[in-house]
Amino acid sequence: MDKFVVRGGNPLLGTIKVSGAKNSALPCMAAAILTEDEVILENIPQVHDIETERKLLTSMGAEVELGYGRAQHRTHIKCAILSDPVAKYEIVKTMRASSLVLGPLIARTGIARVAMPGGCAIGGRPIDLHISGLEAMGATITQDHGYLEARADRLKGAHIVFDKITVTGTEDLLMAATLAEGETLFENCAREPEVTDLAALLIAMGAKIEGAGTATIRVQGVTRLHGARHRINPDRIEAGTFLVAGAITGGDLNVDCCEPKHLGALISKLEQCGVKIDVGADHVRVRSGGELKAADMTTEEYPGFPTDMQAQYMALATQAEGTSSITENIFENRFMHVQELIRMGANITISGRTATIRGKTPLQSAAVMCSDLRASASLVLAALVADGETILDRVYHLDRGYEHFEEKLRGVGAQIRRMGDVFGKK
Ligand code: EPZ
Repeated sequence: MDKFVVRGGNPLLGTIKVSGAKNSALPCMAAAILTEDEVILENIPQVHDIETERKLLTSMGAEVELGYGRAQHRTHIKCAILSDPVAKYEIVKTMRASSLVLGPLIARTGIARVAMPGGCAIGGRPIDLHISGLEAMGATITQDHGYLEARADRLKGAHIVFDKITVTGTEDLLMAATLAEGETLFENCAREPEVTDLAALLIAMGAKIEGAGTATIRVQGVTRLHGARHRINPDRIEAGTFLVAGAITGGDLNVDCCEPKHLGALISKLEQCGVKIDVGADHVRVRSGGELKAADMTTEEYPGFPTDMQAQYMALATQAEGTSSITENIFENRFMHVQELIRMGANITISGRTATIRGKTPLQSAAVMCSDLRASASLVLAALVADGETILDRVYHLDRGYEHFEEKLRGVGAQIRRMGDVFGKK
């Protein structure tokens, strides 16, 4: 398993480019199931989860071309024939976002077999809201041997009020509703930019959708969708991770090719910490404003402070003067990074869903373990300011959602390199 070796102490200086959003690309790739025509998606990030999604679609009978290289980062997907509408456990267990094929599969083929995703490091991650929504649309769903089987001759429009705000639940059912008979009204929807990005693709494919990006979405079902070409949004969490990297190292970093309007809550919090921020049309510049000041933070659904930035913000809070309180409202177990940060010298205590960080504490290098995608990013940020050389193990977690992470950081002055297994095994 690959490791990162990071030597702390360098301020990050220069321009760093943001890639396409993994959490937009995944539902948009699943949306190709809804038509037999070709769907072309641009600005696809070269990350492991996208490769997993390619394998998943191919295993069901789709033709998927996935090209990178300078001009590409593009995928062509054609689901002319879905010979095997089954999302197999071997794939689903490595990426729970595979449940995003459930809605499109049953809408397109009338049948779907999807392995139950199971939990992950940050929580139980149930999909009960996906299931109850499809049942409200007329699907019959049974569960056997760890698989969900959904059947429906044709889904019917319904009035669905989400008990909890769910991003992929909103996306999964939105896709299902595009081919349902009649109108579907969704309330208490997720408002994340990834939902809006997916809706833009679906509308380009001929879907009739109003209200994406708000809590209420109305869909008029159609009988078929056609192919389309769509460019994926920049990744707001990668952009946010780089903004924190510039702040924590006291650098002067221009985060380029991003969408500043998706970063409002983070930018406002960083300014509260005393960080200097200049916002451009498609870039954000972050500079040190002197000593970092502690600022409390609570994660909320968009447009609140994103849970996917909580771990990264906690690393910054260890370097701020004063006491910061961080409350994680979205997931029940998203403090896996805390013990590792403490091993590097941070002063953090946890009570229920709230972590209390007392700073500023100098961080020391250590051998640390990555546990999930964003916790891993948090440990890299801490290592960038730690005294000495930190070894991070199990960086495959990072490779799931950050494209060329160490190369991008090295390009702006970080001392970070990847160390493969002695035998070069992944
Ligand atoms: C999406 O996960 C993202 N993943 C996550 O990003 C992100 O952390 C999360 O949204 C919250 O913003 C993708 O988009 C692929 P939820 P999702 O359904 O959709 C509960 C990353 O780091 N819930 O919005 O799975 C759930 O347990 C990943 O890139 C139910 O109870 O999250 C959680 O407490 C990590 N029943 C809350 O809702 C359901 O049927 C929000 O989950 C669905 C969700």
